[in-house]
Amino acid sequence: MIVGAQWGDEGKGKIVDLLAQDSDVVCRYQGGPNAGHTIVVGEETYKIRALPSGIVRGKPCVIGNGCVVDPEVLIGELDEFERRGHPTHEVFVSGNAHLIMPWHLAIDQASERRLGKLAIGTTKRGIGPCYADKAMRLGIRVQDILDAKILRQKIEAALAEKNLWLERVYESEPFDLETVAAQYEGYAKRLRPYVSDTSLYVDSALRRGKAVLFEGAQATLLDLDHGTYPFVTSSNPVASSAATGTGIGPQRIDHVIGVAKAYVTRVGEGPFPSEIEGPDQERMRELGHEYGTVTGRSRRCGWLDLVALRYAVRVNGIDRLALTKLDVLSHFATLPVCVRYTLRDGAETGDFPAHQSDFHAARPVYETLPGWHEALDECTSVDDLPAAARRYVEFVERELGVEVTLIGTGAERKSVLTRA
Ligand code: IMP
Repeated sequence: MIVGAQWGDEGKGKIVDLLAQDSDVVCRYQGGPNAGHTIVVGEETYKIRALPSGIVRGKPCVIGNGCVVDPEVLIGELDEFERRGHPTHEVFVSGNAHLIMPWHLAIDQASERRLGKLAIGTTKRGIGPCYADKAMRLGIRVQDILDAKILRQKIEAALAEKNLWLERVYESEPFDLETVAAQYEGYAKRLRPYVSDTSLYVDSALRRGKAVLFEGAQATLLDLDHGTYPFVTSSNPVASSAATGTGIGPQRIDHVIGVAKAYVTRVGEGPFPSEIEGPDQERMRELGHEYGTVTGRSRRCGWLDLVALRYAVRVNGIDRLALTKLDVLSHFATLPVCVRYTLRDGAETGDFPAHQSDFHAARPVYETLPGWHEALDECTSVDDLPAAARRYVEFVERELGVEVTLIGTGAERKSVLTRA
């Protein structure tokens, strides 16, 4: 199981792509097209939002019940993969996953507009409103596309309420039943063959001794329960949610690999103690190409935060770490690493603050490690790394008590170093 250990964009896609080689099935268990994975294979670049990254390796792929599905995005990706010569007949979409409807996008956009300065900075893909409807038991599920009559009834019932909200609360345009019904009936035809009982499928794969890889989208600090609420997504990216989000028992998860950048980035609003002050922030953004895959927004950049990473180890049960984009750090003479926070009362802590206001006020305490100047693109194993880069990795391991088993040194598929 692979989980983002920071605020997302850690490069999980590339790690999933690597581990998918030795897996038989790859599953997504939460989130939707708010995710954006970029995988570079030779001259080809794949940008994926809905499908599990395992699709690039030609593995059977599951979109679990915990996901939200925008049919337009999913169909776009299925068509694109077919066109590029990747068959999609082994894509299985849970009938219990929820459909993102046009009003979810409209409400996401309108509510962010209304929040003004208090906006969350969502990806505006309708994620929050879709999960809210799921919890409200007003949602429309993937399985509803199997019956045109039911689909139409559900759209009609939802619109009766949503149009009121859109017009009276958000002063936005309402949706027309006939237009939406026709649009979703079209999607239904294309998606019908993919709708499956994915819990049964994954369970049966596990029973047959197959290796199943779970691919978290977003990340620990964006988790609805454990993240920096309210600046979070509306699902649970943490590892234990893989069980709920695919319909298997928690004891089936053998290992949890946390993926962390060798520094930190964050998109959207919210507190960020190790955010870099001064020109190094822009430098890091340029060197790391830190612009959102989905929204194109600039990512905020910070030094590695071990307090937050220690927390991610705890709430996910991370037993191995993949440290990505180590090459980006090659350009800095010294590397501050946040080892503790100073709280409002002046006390120092190595534990992530449980109270939101403490986290807002937390100031980073840095230990500064020496940098290195050598490029890392010639390294083929961890042993080839410059001594200072090895010390950086060992420092992280010591502080967290977790072994770093994979190190990312570039965008290419081959640029992931493993431990001998
Ligand atoms: P939402 O998931 O679109 O509702 O956005 C909620 C918060 O999660 C915002 O701060 C987004 O920027 C952030 N977010 C959602 N998906 C991702 C992702 O894949 N990478 C990084 N941040 C994300």
